[in-house]
Parts: sequence; C-alpha cells; structure tokens
Amino acid sequence: MIPDHSNKTLAELLDLSGRRAVVTGGAKGIGAQTARRLAEAGADVVIADLDLSAATATATDIASATGRTTVASFIDVGDTASIVAAADVAVSRLGGIDIWVNNAGIYPTTGPAIEATDEFIDRMLSINVRGSFAGAREAAKRMKSGVIINLASIAGLSATPGISAYVMSKHAVIGMTKVLSREFAPLDIRVVAVAPGPIDTPGVQDQLAPLKAAGVDVGAMLTKTPLGRGGVPDDIARAIVFLASDLAAWVNAETLVVDAGSLAR
Ligand SMILES: NC(=O)c1ccc[n+]([C@@H]2O[C@H](COP(=O)([O-])OP(=O)(O)OC[C@H]3O[C@@H](n4cnc5c(N)ncnc54)[C@H](O)[C@@H]3O)[C@@H](O)[C@H]2O)c1
Repeated sequence: MIPDHSNKTLAELLDLSGRRAVVTGGAKGIGAQTARRLAEAGADVVIADLDLSAATATATDIASATGRTTVASFIDVGDTASIVAAADVAVSRLGGIDIWVNNAGIYPTTGPAIEATDEFIDRMLSINVRGSFAGAREAAKRMKSGVIINLASIAGLSATPGISAYVMSKHAVIGMTKVLSREFAPLDIRVVAVAPGPIDTPGVQDQLAPLKAAGVDVGAMLTKTPLGRGGVPDDIARAIVFLASDLAAWVNAETLVVDAGSLAR
C-alpha cells in the first residue's frame, strides 16, 4: 500500500535519493532534460536511447553535473528484446527500477489519412504504443513498487488533421495509462502520463523543417500560447519529477496536461 506521506517535509517528498530511474529516448529533448532533473532530485538514471553515442554524452554530462550514477544503454522501443535488455541493465547496474519513463516516441506527419499506408501506421503504433506498453510491462516485472510515466501529448486529447497516426497513438497511450494503473495498483506501482503541448526539441525542429523551408513562421507556431511563451523541455521535465516523487503519491491513472493552457477552449 502506498503510504500516507503527511509527516514528511516538502523537501523530503521531492527527494528521489535511492530511487533508480530509466528514461527511454533519454539522449535528447524532453527525455534528456527529464533524466537531468531526476538525477538532480537524487535518482540514479539509465539513459536508454536508439542513439547510444548521444545517450553516452548525455549520461556523462548529467553525472558530472549531479554526482549521480548514470548509465547509457541502447534501446529501440520498436524491438521488445532491446527493451528487456535495457530493463536488465537497470537491474544489474543500478540494483532495480523504481521509476520508468516511457518517453521515446516518433511523430512523422501522416499526411492525408486517405493516403496513409499500413506500413506507416504499423511503425507509428509499434514505437509509440507497443513500445510504451512493453516498457511498462518489463518495468513492472522488475519493480518492487514505483511509478511508470508515459509521454502522451495534447494530440492524445484532440484531433488535428494530417497527423492521424500520431493522434491515434497518443490516444492509445492515455488509455493504456488508465488500464495499467488499475492492473498495477495492487503491485504498488502508479501509472500516470504527461500530455505536453508543443515543446521546442530536436524532434520538433526536424518535423517542422519542411514548413520552415516553405516560409511558414515556425517560431510563431511554437511560441503562441496563452502564457505568452513557447514550451521548453524543462517545462515537461519538472512535471515528470513531480509525478515521480512522493508529492504525487496519490496521483494515479491521470494524464497531466502541460501546455500553458493551449488546449483549453
Ligand atoms: N516535443 C513536443 O512538442 C512533444 C509534444 C507532445 C508529446 N511529445 C512526446 O514526448 C516524447 C519526446 O519528444 P521529444 O520532442 O523530446 O523527441 P525528440 O525527437 O527530440 O527526442 C526523442 C529521443 O528519442 C530517441 N528515439 C527515437 N526513436 C527511438 C526508439 N525507437 N527507441 C529509443 N529511442 C528512440 C531519439 O534518438 C531521441 O533521443 C515523445 O514521446 C513525443 O511524442 C513531444
């Protein structure tokens, strides 16, 4: 049973010392900043990514900035065997898993749904949906208690034409968060999600490059929010640290929208 933490100070509630975290897609963007903030809060972190050399550079940076143990590991969340291998790295190098962040994801533009191929849909769903499901499953098998945090998106709560595969994948992530939260609660594992609005990351810049080349003011697209500035990876990393910490001990199944209020209508 997840204990009542009323007698702890705020600093104690936020302290992740002794926790072992895995961040998939942790080499860049939201994942890298999440790994950094988790380590700052005291966690040891496996930074698992398709790009092992970028993961190694990020792990080295975070270790020197925070003094925490960081481990770079290869993972391709489209391939379950490599998810299993990365989970085993966390157990062998850090001694276990308390926090698993399903952050790795892709968002190529689908284009008109009427032209989308089965191969395109399969690829999107295998990485964004099956990859997160397998990550949650393999983490839960190895946790004594803990929290699994899924990266959803405001695309999982809305319906933007042209990115139908991504929209479907993130709706699925939100459903998965709810059902796994019910299945894993008896194991003392919370399952929650974050739904970011547009965040300036290497992946978003890649996606917007064709628009930029066509003369669209991409900067304005990213920065026009009710709070008057665009989102940065740390806006999401701070929300993830909250959800990972005992501050959120009674938060379960929820998807926390972090978008400066853009989705509100
Ligand atoms: N940036 C945004 O605006 C935004 C908004 C909503 C949700 N999200 C979600 O947040 C997550 C991170 O987004 P980001 O913008 O930081 O991405 P990014 O593309 O900038 O970085 C993604 C990282 O994941 C790695 N990666 C890609 N495919 C992988 C795979 N198959 N296996 C393992 N690692 C892989 C990449 O090497 C990279 O290090 C994604 O799930 C994305 O859908 C992002």
